[in-house]
Amino acid sequence: MRRLFAIILVCALIAGIGVGCKAKTGVVNLGGIFPMTGASATFGTSSKQGVAMAVEEFNTAGGATVGGVATTINYINEDDAGDPAVGASAAHKLIDQDKVIGIIGAVMSKVTLAVAPIAQDAGVPEISPTSTNEAVTLVGDYIFRACFIDPFQGKVMANYAYNTLKVKTAAVLYDNGNDYPKGLAEAFKASFESLGGKIVAYEAFTDEATTIDYKAQLTTIKAAKPEFLYLPNYYGGAALQLKQAREMGLNVPAGGGDGWDSPELVTIGGAAVEGGVFSNHFSKDDKSPKVQDFVAKYTTKYGAAPDALAALAYDAAGLFLDAFKTCGSIKGSDIRDAMKNTTFSGIGGAYKFDANRNPIKAAVILQIKNGQQTFLMTVNP
Ligand code: PHE
Repeated sequence: MRRLFAIILVCALIAGIGVGCKAKTGVVNLGGIFPMTGASATFGTSSKQGVAMAVEEFNTAGGATVGGVATTINYINEDDAGDPAVGASAAHKLIDQDKVIGIIGAVMSKVTLAVAPIAQDAGVPEISPTSTNEAVTLVGDYIFRACFIDPFQGKVMANYAYNTLKVKTAAVLYDNGNDYPKGLAEAFKASFESLGGKIVAYEAFTDEATTIDYKAQLTTIKAAKPEFLYLPNYYGGAALQLKQAREMGLNVPAGGGDGWDSPELVTIGGAAVEGGVFSNHFSKDDKSPKVQDFVAKYTTKYGAAPDALAALAYDAAGLFLDAFKTCGSIKGSDIRDAMKNTTFSGIGGAYKFDANRNPIKAAVILQIKNGQQTFLMTVNP
């Protein structure tokens, strides 16, 4: 029955594009939701490129067999502009109009948190490559991610600051209008304090996309004399914050999270971001053959090396497509079940989900040296 249903749907889709039902091939839609415009647009470009590459490889390899019919993917990429409301509209469009079999996205946790309830209600599996806020997958059993979560990421940098840099005091400046910086700030604070460190200033602002002046908060922070400055914001905000901190003579070592991963951190921040350290998912300098193959392939195709956004989008799409192929069904619950039991091995190694559909993965710590991201270390969970 399930098979028949799938064949009918595939035929309907083929008929829809005017090929006729006798052809023994089918096409189904897969959606992507990423910030292609707005303050964090480099996240969108990288993510879209990663997904597109995985889809192309899947199609070239023959796609999935659904009810005896070879079925490939038509990828539809939507722009969320870094805005939860725009992301939610994109999700409705992809699900209601395009009848996608799944959604890859979003990047920013606040957008994924707006998209996830829509996907969950519709029974459409969604996998976010890089949304790290803990609440994302708790929305429901159709929601997965391909990255570690912020309680771990916050702990990684707290440990690095306390044990490697040997600082005993730190200050935090974060965007309190955004789930990701808020959660990461809390995670860093809790871990740093549990190690015996002291948070001497915990300052906030609202919305880095519209804020240009951080001097009031930085003045409070400077007066508290921290030995370390933690900025768990996206690259645009963090770069400006560091520029203003350095201008004010606040020259202590600084760090952040995966949100720093953009070539624009250095373009905007210049010398002010030099020496900055941040936790991330991926380093293009990883010597593993899988990573180096991917870096070479991606660089040839797109003319620049992949960042973590590209790498995880490639893995997230690869994992989804592998589950689709394994179950040979376009039914959401079948794909979801195949995803839950995945044994997919991506460039980030083998994926295995915990009970909340979070994979257990290592983090890397990178440092900006001479304007380049330099690998410092890997931290296992
Ligand atoms: N982790 C960020 C979030 O949840 C998104 C991000 C991931 C940004 C990786 C850059 C690199 O909002």
